[in-house]
Amino acid sequence: MPFDIARTRAAYPALTEGFAHFDGAGGTQTPQSVIDAVSAAMGTALGNRTPAFAPGRRSLELVDAARAAVADLLGAAPRGVVLGPSATALTYTLARTLGVTWRPGDEVVVSRLDHDANVRPWVQAALAAGATVRWAEFDPATGELPAGQYAELVGERTRLVAVTAGSNAVGTMPDVSAIAKTAHAAGALVCVDGVHSVPHGPTDLASTGADFLVTSAYKWSGPHLAAMVADPARWESLHPAKLVPSSDAVPDRFEAGTPSFPLLAGVAAAVDHLAGLDPSATGDRRERVRAGLAAAQAYEEALFDRLLAGLADNPAVTVYGSAARRCPTVSFRLAGWSPAGLAAALGEARLCLSSGDYYAYEYFRAMGLRETGGAVRASVYHYNTADEVDRLLSELHTLARRRETMGR
Ligand SMILES: Cc1ncc(COP(=O)(O)O)c(C=O)c1O
Repeated sequence: MPFDIARTRAAYPALTEGFAHFDGAGGTQTPQSVIDAVSAAMGTALGNRTPAFAPGRRSLELVDAARAAVADLLGAAPRGVVLGPSATALTYTLARTLGVTWRPGDEVVVSRLDHDANVRPWVQAALAAGATVRWAEFDPATGELPAGQYAELVGERTRLVAVTAGSNAVGTMPDVSAIAKTAHAAGALVCVDGVHSVPHGPTDLASTGADFLVTSAYKWSGPHLAAMVADPARWESLHPAKLVPSSDAVPDRFEAGTPSFPLLAGVAAAVDHLAGLDPSATGDRRERVRAGLAAAQAYEEALFDRLLAGLADNPAVTVYGSAARRCPTVSFRLAGWSPAGLAAALGEARLCLSSGDYYAYEYFRAMGLRETGGAVRASVYHYNTADEVDRLLSELHTLARRRETMGR
């Protein structure tokens, strides 16, 4: 059944403003169902969590519902879902929690393909523990992160391997399960950054091989919240810094402070939205979410092929990365334009694209592009259209002829 793009777009009220959003990698627009869920939660009596009275029970239910939804999204156990304000904050919590168990001589492996949120928390925790940081390198020509190098990088002192499931800069989807196998053979834990990959296809915690997998709801039509999932038994074995009176239960003990209950309602509604992307799908929500994301993936891939072909047709465009398995995300430059100037010019044409390094700091540093402004990024999401892709490609031809004006 073809992807029903008109029906999908109708779910997003913001799209009527007419912007073409190629910045889903930085955050997606919000479906009406998510807005309604947040608003309904805010409009009902809520209390701090307590079984004593109904408003307090509602807050307990909102937390449980968000955990159940994220569990369905990722193939995790609801008790294994830690909720938090952002992927960065959750990764810092995990890095500090694991880091206090590391000793001088222990090793941590990070990659230069990753968003800094899955690099710096580990580097800083290693520094605090006197542990050594080892770096996995990507191939500058293709943006691939060869899994084979981990055989050399991982050893008996390796405690943790952090790697992305999808680069937010060039889309590369490394073979994380092969990397996890190598890490596990040495007894190391694996933290996978799924922030960029999860919105673009079905994800299954077990098949990634990750011990910890992080995702951010605002990249898949939800509010600005995030989740980190793991086997509940793994969480049981860890003890984060926490307030004395706060719950020591799993997963609550990893969630500092009082959560945003209304936004949690939006997380559950966003998963329901993904589960409805293929209206012909049947089964439980886990099955429907997989079907919905598979349908979106096929649709996004076709649009992305059109985008890549159009970029390749423009001699003024330089594209970075060409990985075999990738999310529908591309970074590029246009001759005669700085990345920031190009993003501003595209913005004037109501085309929304990020520029800079988008926190893929090590990638742009290793490529020698950071000092000169990084690149411009186009990321395709399930509400983009072929017309929008054509608009972008045509604007790039126009701008290639115009070149950047002084003072931009
Ligand atoms: C791949 C990737 N990882 C991590 C993050 C950080 O996510 P958050 O903003 O939830 O901390 C981002 C945000 O852009 C990202 O793209």
